[in-house]
Amino acid sequence: MRVVVTGGAGFIGSNFVRGRLAGSADEIVVLDKLTYAGRLENLRDVAADPRFRFVQGAIEDPDAVAGALEGVDAIVNFAAETHVDRSISEPDAFVRTHALGTFVLLEAARAHALRYLQVSTDEVYGSIEEGSFTESSPLEPSSPYSATKAGADLLVASYQRTFGLHTLICRGSNNYGPYQYPEKLIPLMVLNALAGDRLPVYGDGRNVRNWLFVEDFAAAIGFVLDHGRPGETYNVGGPDECENLAVVRRILELCGRDDSLIEYVTDRPGHDRRYSLASEKVRALGWSASMRFEAGLERTVTWYRENEWWWQPIRSGAYRDYYLRQYGFTLGP
Ligand code: NAD
Ligand code: DAU
Repeated sequence: MRVVVTGGAGFIGSNFVRGRLAGSADEIVVLDKLTYAGRLENLRDVAADPRFRFVQGAIEDPDAVAGALEGVDAIVNFAAETHVDRSISEPDAFVRTHALGTFVLLEAARAHALRYLQVSTDEVYGSIEEGSFTESSPLEPSSPYSATKAGADLLVASYQRTFGLHTLICRGSNNYGPYQYPEKLIPLMVLNALAGDRLPVYGDGRNVRNWLFVEDFAAAIGFVLDHGRPGETYNVGGPDECENLAVVRRILELCGRDDSLIEYVTDRPGHDRRYSLASEKVRALGWSASMRFEAGLERTVTWYRENEWWWQPIRSGAYRDYYLRQYGFTLGP
């Protein structure tokens, strides 16, 4: 199959591309705008593969999309603005990419009768105190990030019902692992702990997330692309749930630091308390998570320790200004 992977220079997209080139005969075209979160470094080890091609462009640009689509069979759309905090301070790009960008991709998929897989998130369901969300739970998003992702999901579903497009939606829980930009909880805490910087914990630190190793999510998306039923949505939850504070304390241990680096900071507005997904439907297709959180976290800390080439340019660039705006304090030298 020839697949266009939009947002393939980001964290999950690049892991998907790597896994797919290694485990299938697919040819892959990555279409990516290269925002601050999209980095060719994420694709460095597949760049020379003859089955791989990179096109720089935005999903909301119909010409860029048309240019990437020649001869393809499917679109897998990872392209998104993905950080909840940024959606609170600067929501514009979230609306543009998730609403307009998804629309442009759907129109292109319709014109060429392509299979279309939308990568979505558990955040579209909102927060849940007890139990787990199924695919038929109502959508109650809390942030501009999750609201625009939910809107995109609804648009995708409408193209299936109205135009008969072969659509699929995968809603993943919190991913972690190699190549994740250090604005997200785990890589931010790992790099700060390694450097001896403060670790900013929002609110009381008791929010719960359902952790999913990135290679497991990438494999599930491939599974759904190959075996999913057209028009269906599949939840993909991780095997373990954990409070933020427990995650942060374990990272400190793995980095040889103590709790004195923890700094409690003002809570995120509209902060969802807990996410939890029921994933029976995707398991019935034959997928299951292979990585438990404890082992995956150790592997992730090791990866960041060993790949300073990847994160050093981020920590020394514009990221420092973002960090000051977001947290009100700076990183060490
Ligand atoms: P990321 O921020 O690491 O990467 C996003 C990628 O999309 C970047 O390469 C960026 O350059 C590209 N992009 C952004 N806007 C674009 C546009 N308008 N046109 C083309 N490319 C654009 O994100 P991620 O964490 O890898 O998330 C990928 C997808 O998975 C997103 O749709 C996200 O909502 C979803 N998701 C993420 C998680 C998670 O925990 N990170 C969990 C579930 C679902
Ligand atoms: O659940 C899936 C979602 O997971 C994805 O759709 C999003 O793209 C992804 O960003 C992620 O959203 P979260 O808001 O859950 O992830 P984040 O890493 O931003 O935060 C995880 C938890 O940690 C959350 O409760 C907020 C808290 N946190 C986060 C940061 C960055 C802190 O306490 N301190 C921090 O500095």
